[in-house]
Amino acid sequence: MSCLRSLVALVPLFVAVAYGQQIGTNTPEINPSLLWEECTFPGLCQKVNGSVTIDANYRWTHNVGGYTNCKNGNTWDATICPDATTCAENCAVEGVDYASSGVFTSGNALTLSLNTVTNSGPRLYLLGADQKSYQMFKLNQHEFTFDVDLSQVACGMNAALYFSEMDLHGGSASTNKAGAKFGTGYCDAQCPSGDNFFNGQVSATSDLLNQANLENNGICCNEMDIWEANRVSNAFTTHGCSQNGPYTCSGAGCQGQCDGNGCAFNAFHQGDQQFYGSGLTIDTTKKFTVVTQFLTNNGLSSGHLTEIRRLYVQNGRIHENPPTQVKGMPPFNSVSQQYCDAQRTIMNATNLFDETGGMEPLSNAFETGMVLVFSLWDDPFGGMTWLDGPGAGSCPGGLDTSGGPVVNVTFSNIKFGNIGSTFLL
Ligand SMILES: *[C@@H]1O[C@H](CO)[C@@H](O)[C@H](O)[C@H]1NC(C)=O
Ligand SMILES: *[C@@H]1O[C@H](CO)[C@@H](O)[C@H](O)[C@H]1NC(C)=O
Ligand SMILES: *[C@@H]1O[C@H](CO)[C@@H](O)[C@H](O)[C@H]1NC(C)=O
Repeated sequence: MSCLRSLVALVPLFVAVAYGQQIGTNTPEINPSLLWEECTFPGLCQKVNGSVTIDANYRWTHNVGGYTNCKNGNTWDATICPDATTCAENCAVEGVDYASSGVFTSGNALTLSLNTVTNSGPRLYLLGADQKSYQMFKLNQHEFTFDVDLSQVACGMNAALYFSEMDLHGGSASTNKAGAKFGTGYCDAQCPSGDNFFNGQVSATSDLLNQANLENNGICCNEMDIWEANRVSNAFTTHGCSQNGPYTCSGAGCQGQCDGNGCAFNAFHQGDQQFYGSGLTIDTTKKFTVVTQFLTNNGLSSGHLTEIRRLYVQNGRIHENPPTQVKGMPPFNSVSQQYCDAQRTIMNATNLFDETGGMEPLSNAFETGMVLVFSLWDDPFGGMTWLDGPGAGSCPGGLDTSGGPVVNVTFSNIKFGNIGSTFLL
């Protein structure tokens, strides 16, 4: 169902993008700071002074010491980029002006702006304290919580908060001096071919590290979508891959590497049409809290991931995720092997959950650590119907731009910690 691929496909159409690996000197990179908290017991949390970075693909990338784009549209400059390694050495990525890129932070709040005329919104990653590596989240037997205000986010838009198995340093290396601070190394379970450099220790057998992605190869990795949503619908979805990531694939060889559709829980799709939306149990005209718990078989962070549970908090009340009301489905209200199997056998879902190893790939990736991603995007071609269209939500299908040319989402009050420690009434 999930279709993050669309984001990558759209970028080259609407944003002046070019790609590279050295550090440009025209605009200093000042990563907007974002406070979040690490919790051990309810009310016992420690503030962490984090910051965000925008994806490398969104940055001006030009020849080192000059002003010539490394890539124009889909065409690499043949002089700067005669081959993949030289290209990586010759191209520099610039710092960005975050406000003009639609990124605003204040204390513990992060606002992303989508331009619904150009169909461009940012994709951001949370950096660690050194601002040279990504903040890693080891999710097994832990809980991740945030507040969201998506009252402006309408049909056909996706305010997403998710985890991707990116490289700790964004693949920084001799030919990639930019690294995580400049948002390099994106990967996900759609194996996007939009990244224009291979950034990570992509695979033990690949010698194509830190080179320009002149062939548009895919970069695959495990992905956990905590939140893909607008004010009408939301889903949380597992997307496992058959190998630990990030790793590359090429053409048809990318098919079946990862569970691209994923095993999703969308309350509307599971038959409860009164739970989430404007004026409903979770009232999306107002801010609310989203809690996601990653439970293991033995209740220890060293255990194996078995269940992903969701709670909401709004107006001082805890709301459990509603149970499935689909005829023939046991009343699951969380994602587990049993739930995903029932999706297949009873709801005819076409995921590759079992083929990619069930919960195990995510369990392994959660042990290594995942990078936190924020994005806001739309699909003017009606490609968000898997999230909010007939069967999945109350949207007719298509993009609702009646809110005007700028749409904001604000994520705030991010907390991570032991189960039960990140929310208070
Ligand atoms: C967090 O870091 C930013 C950027 O380094 C700094 O300006 C700010 O004062 C820090 N805030 C706290 C609470 O430490
Ligand atoms: C799943 O497929 C079977 C066989 O084609 C069909 O009878 C059933 O109605 C389908 N179930 C759903 C929920 O679409
Ligand atoms: C979006 O957020 C920015 C930063 O807070 C603000 O300047 C802008 O007015 C907001 N736009 C809308 C439509 O709310």
